[in-house]
Amino acid sequence: MELKRNSHIIEISHLSKTFQSGKNKIEALCDINLKINKGEFVSIIGASGCGKSTLLRIIGGLDKEYKGKALFEGKPIVAPSRQRGFIFQDIRLLPWLTVEDNIKFSLPYKTPDIDDIVSKKLEIVNLKGFEKAYPKQLSGGMAQRVAIARALANQPKVLLLDEPFGALDAITKIKLQEEMLRIWENEKITMILVTHDIDEAVYLGNRVVVMTNRPGRIQKIHDITLANPRSRISYEFNIQKETIYKEFFGDVEVPFAYAI
Ligand SMILES: Nc1ncnc2c1ncn2[C@@H]1O[C@H](COP(=O)(O)OP(=O)(O)OP(=O)(O)O)[C@@H](O)[C@H]1O
Ligand SMILES: [Mg+2]
Repeated sequence: MELKRNSHIIEISHLSKTFQSGKNKIEALCDINLKINKGEFVSIIGASGCGKSTLLRIIGGLDKEYKGKALFEGKPIVAPSRQRGFIFQDIRLLPWLTVEDNIKFSLPYKTPDIDDIVSKKLEIVNLKGFEKAYPKQLSGGMAQRVAIARALANQPKVLLLDEPFGALDAITKIKLQEEMLRIWENEKITMILVTHDIDEAVYLGNRVVVMTNRPGRIQKIHDITLANPRSRISYEFNIQKETIYKEFFGDVEVPFAYAI
């Protein structure tokens, strides 16, 4: 189905989710309303336990028990789909398969031109030459690149990123954030990124959705009006970060790392 111009690829309305844990009810999400345009990069930020992963799992079709509406291209999300790929913090490669076989394994049986697809995606994530390596021979950053290549190989329309760089060292993280921005610009995939990291949310997002503590509600949505390529040391970048920092912690003195 071709999308009409300006129609929303993802539409969430009045979405609520309650978990039953023994006798207890845990209200994870409450009345979430969010419309995402095709090709957007939306960052979702919020405290631990505020329901970010729950929201992403619902969009991914991994959790079907919710109240309200969750639509993909205008249709209710009822199951996982290759059109909505996931990248998680824990990388989940199969240790007994090589890099290329990990990617092939995620593709449908008898995918035409499979070698070509794998080769192109490994090139995008700068991993040419590592086709025959096993996961244990890779660094954390390289393993996450394989996970990104694997997700891209399925040609998703939407990529759901759940703290994808959270376990990486600071330098690898910055490098992969830059690569993610390049991939987003080239591949035109709609990205939804969940993160704890204000810097990452602002660096990557066109919009930053700030969630409240549990039960997660949308506190505010910030438009990020920064020109690309973005500079982390620019005045504008740091002003946007400071605004979001204050959203979380009130109008307190901003620590040096977040200040201009
Ligand atoms: N399967 C489950 N059964 C019961 N409760 C759950 C389940 N999954 C999540 N929860 C609860 O729902 C709430 C939201 O969890 P969720 O994992 O979405 O938070 P999060 O924002 O992703 O947190 P974090 O930043 O730590 O990853 C938490 O209180 C959690 O304990
Ligand atoms: Mg989470």
